[in-house]
Amino acid sequence: MACPAGDVLALATMTRNTALQEHPSLPDLLSGRSIVLVGLMGAGKTSIGRRLAARLGMPFRDADDEIERAAGCTIPEIFARFGEPYFRDGERRVIRRLLQGPPAVIAFGGGAFMDAETRAVARQSAVSIWLRCSLRTLVRRVSARDNRPLLAGGDHEATLSRLMGIRYPIYAEADVIVDCGDESPETTTSDVVSALQAWTPPNRLTVTLSTTQYDVVIGPGLLDRAGALLAPVLPQKRAIIVTDKTVARLHLDRLLAGLAQTGFATHTVVVEGGEATKSVETWSNVVDQMLEQRVERRTAVLALGGGVVGDLAGFAAAATLRGLPFVQIPTTLLAQVDSSVGGKTAVNTKWGKNLLGAFYQPRMVLADMDTLATLPARELRAGYAEIAKAGLIGDAAFFDWCEANGRAVVGGDRDAQAEAVRRACAFKAAVVGDDEREEKPNDGRALLNLGHTFGHALEAEYGYDGGLLHGEAVGVGLGLAFKLSVRLGHCEQADADRVVSHVAACGMAADLRMLNRRFSAGTLIGHMRRDKKVRDGALTFVLARGIGQAFTSADVPVEAVAELLRDEGCEV
Ligand SMILES: NC(=O)c1ccc[n+]([C@@H]2O[C@H](COP(=O)([O-])OP(=O)(O)OC[C@H]3O[C@@H](n4cnc5c(N)ncnc54)[C@H](O)[C@@H]3O)[C@@H](O)[C@H]2O)c1
Repeated sequence: MACPAGDVLALATMTRNTALQEHPSLPDLLSGRSIVLVGLMGAGKTSIGRRLAARLGMPFRDADDEIERAAGCTIPEIFARFGEPYFRDGERRVIRRLLQGPPAVIAFGGGAFMDAETRAVARQSAVSIWLRCSLRTLVRRVSARDNRPLLAGGDHEATLSRLMGIRYPIYAEADVIVDCGDESPETTTSDVVSALQAWTPPNRLTVTLSTTQYDVVIGPGLLDRAGALLAPVLPQKRAIIVTDKTVARLHLDRLLAGLAQTGFATHTVVVEGGEATKSVETWSNVVDQMLEQRVERRTAVLALGGGVVGDLAGFAAAATLRGLPFVQIPTTLLAQVDSSVGGKTAVNTKWGKNLLGAFYQPRMVLADMDTLATLPARELRAGYAEIAKAGLIGDAAFFDWCEANGRAVVGGDRDAQAEAVRRACAFKAAVVGDDEREEKPNDGRALLNLGHTFGHALEAEYGYDGGLLHGEAVGVGLGLAFKLSVRLGHCEQADADRVVSHVAACGMAADLRMLNRRFSAGTLIGHMRRDKKVRDGALTFVLARGIGQAFTSADVPVEAVAELLRDEGCEV
């Protein structure tokens, strides 16, 4: 058979499968996308692909057929005459062309998905399905055939086993995995249709900054798919996981399994947990353990935990070897909506909280909603304060949503939680995108500190001993910020009342009296003066002209703050 050389492999032609039978409806999210079948030789990509295309009323393309047609000779001939690199090059171009065409069911050749560029194109325009088979099934299916160049003349079982070792970790990056055994092709096709119908891609939200951008991925089951989600954004399948003891017990195994599926090598560093863990000593210890593992510039650091772990691991990643790729995997509501997004990392010093750190953006944030199921109710409520804060700063409609749904969020309603995380992250992403390093003289990223000047003072007063959580302090601070705004003539009393009653309705202390502790106005103001948000020595507050209309103010008279605190029951 003639086998013209040159660029002929790029000339993909199309075969249309018109044997329409039934058209099961697929989720809207799939419309306009091709479906790509991957797997080893013998997995059934062509036979399942044809059936799937017929059932869905889509055209079917077999990438290998397209290549042979374009080349005018068989794949074994291309291998024999020009070698594998030449074949892979043509295969890449043919597949790109197919994926750029109208939606189709496309059976990939066994090695096609191994190409990073092809995987990237497939992620853009298709849903990939891995037909996963056991070695026994594959050996049985291919033993009758001898036209596979990679099997030519060898021991089928040994060759397939070797290929499985190399390819399965990459196939596992597919969007959907369907296990296939000795069932009939019709049954496997039905399994594929069901898997497609059940598939919901996680919600992705892009944080766009001047020098980088990254996705916040939100959804259930993300730890189990961590390897597939992270592989495209990390330079190396090697990672140091930093987590705390509690989270390690609850969620580490799932993350390790999700990473191992795509061949990640991991080492875990477990820290104690709690605010005291955010110390220079622990940070230095974490860095030591990473260096002991001989991390390279391409080794990733994954923070699995709440804001404490995220801040600590983020700063360790920022400093080690002058910056390792970093990923946030937040497991508290507070970390999912606030600390994991925006790139602030830090540890505490004897001079105060978060005083040693760096702006260091993650490559990705994986907010797995399933992790919230184990979070104590108190931590859930504390995280919720940061969600309500987002609405109060700049999205009145979102605060309306919070008033209607906040109790469901703190009550554990998974859908409400996912929506709250999505909206709060979108808000934070927009603010951070506009002022990444909090450099704007007014408003900008500093707006995210609504309620925080009061909140930080309260945290300092409690000594970060767990008696008052960060989010709880912010909850009280939100009401105080609005009351101060009323006092200074910026805002209606009714707005402050709404804030206080919403915080209380969600089960948090909404004012100082509810904290059952006596405070001194002078001491609290002293803490405020030491806050790192102090500019040129003046007290800086985020105030509001109403719900969703926050602004920064650097000239709040200390007397007004003192009077408010006195009226709220503080000692003089
Ligand atoms: N970097 C930022 O932009 C930013 C923003 C806000 C807050 N922060 C920081 O975040 C920290 C507070 O974060 P946090 O509230 O997440 O506290 P945290 O990290 O201490 O977590 C709270 C507790 O919950 C446990 N936990 C975590 N996930 C769990 C889960 N899924 N199930 C059960 N238990 C779980 C932890 O072990 C811990 O005991 C503070 O240090 C604060 O300064 C940083």
